[in-house]
Amino acid sequence: MLVLGIETSCDETGLALYDTGAGLVAESLYSQVELHARYGGVVPELASRDHIQKIAPLMAELLERAGRTVDDLDGVAFTSGPGLIGALMVGATFGRSLAYGLDIPAIGVHHMEAHLLAPLIDAGTSETALPFVALLVSGGHTQLFRVDAIGDYTLLGESLDDAAGEAFDKVAKMLQLGYPGGPAVAAKAENGDPERFQFPRPMTDRPGLDMSFSGLKTFTANTVRDHSPLDDQDVADIARAFEDAVVDTLAIKCRRALQETGLERFVAAGGVAANRRLRKRLADDLPHIVYAPPALCTDNGAMIAHAGALRLEAGQRDALEIATRARWPMAELLPL
Ligand code: KG4
Ligand code: ZN
Repeated sequence: MLVLGIETSCDETGLALYDTGAGLVAESLYSQVELHARYGGVVPELASRDHIQKIAPLMAELLERAGRTVDDLDGVAFTSGPGLIGALMVGATFGRSLAYGLDIPAIGVHHMEAHLLAPLIDAGTSETALPFVALLVSGGHTQLFRVDAIGDYTLLGESLDDAAGEAFDKVAKMLQLGYPGGPAVAAKAENGDPERFQFPRPMTDRPGLDMSFSGLKTFTANTVRDHSPLDDQDVADIARAFEDAVVDTLAIKCRRALQETGLERFVAAGGVAANRRLRKRLADDLPHIVYAPPALCTDNGAMIAHAGALRLEAGQRDALEIATRARWPMAELLPL
């Protein structure tokens, strides 16, 4: 079954073709980073308009590169939430209408489920055997789930305030490293002295799997203020202290999640899971971890095509109305 996947929940227009037999066939990704950079963050209305302009040419280019036409498609999957509602509407309207026109099934995909399943796109089945614990760590979410089956997700803990990626983005702003912040902070931290500052590891001294990153952000802001004007080394040292604190906090909670569930296998997904230091730390600390390659950790069309294909193949379909949701708890998803 050949499925076209469409991702437009935020600032990337991502399209991909996934074949349930052959795997990922082709993908294309257009990032709006430059468009939003001068505003220091995503401007929702500009994001929607840019998705409208890019989506059809990207699809044409993708199909041509793969040597296919729309008539080869057996289904269409599009992100229907959570995300920016205007941006979601573009991909959902395009995808739902295309499927209607071709008389093939369509399915709205949960963006975070697609992140969660991305490490399975080309991993071996033994590595990804269920059940496992998953860390979803992106710009909008930081959550730990117990995964008993595809579609059967039990929330174990989550950030009670900022997501880890959001904290990276805000710290990048404080350090004038621009947008998007995660990769910029991580790059700067490479030259930082890990001994110079000790930042807190929020909520690690009490039991449970919930997290908080807004206090760490405030601590960082205070450190910036106390040392301003910052020279290049100050920026690197603060970036390093912040990154170490986030990585350490996440690693402590991930270990604890395995202890509390008695499970061994672990999957990490979402944009922040592209972070090198976090990947190394979890690989060192956890007995068995599976990641997506960094390019499939951040937003992309391949993960939507893949997650949608699994559901379409199981016979799930969306009705004709175009449904999008800004918020959408994963526990509401149907099991396969
Ligand atoms: O999954 P994603 O692409 O979009 C959402 O669903 O939110 O995640 C984006 C987030 C941003 O906050 C970005 O700064 C962060 O992931 N991020 C990183 C890295 N790459 C992306 N954070 C830390 N280190 C990275 N290498
Ligand atoms: Zn995402």
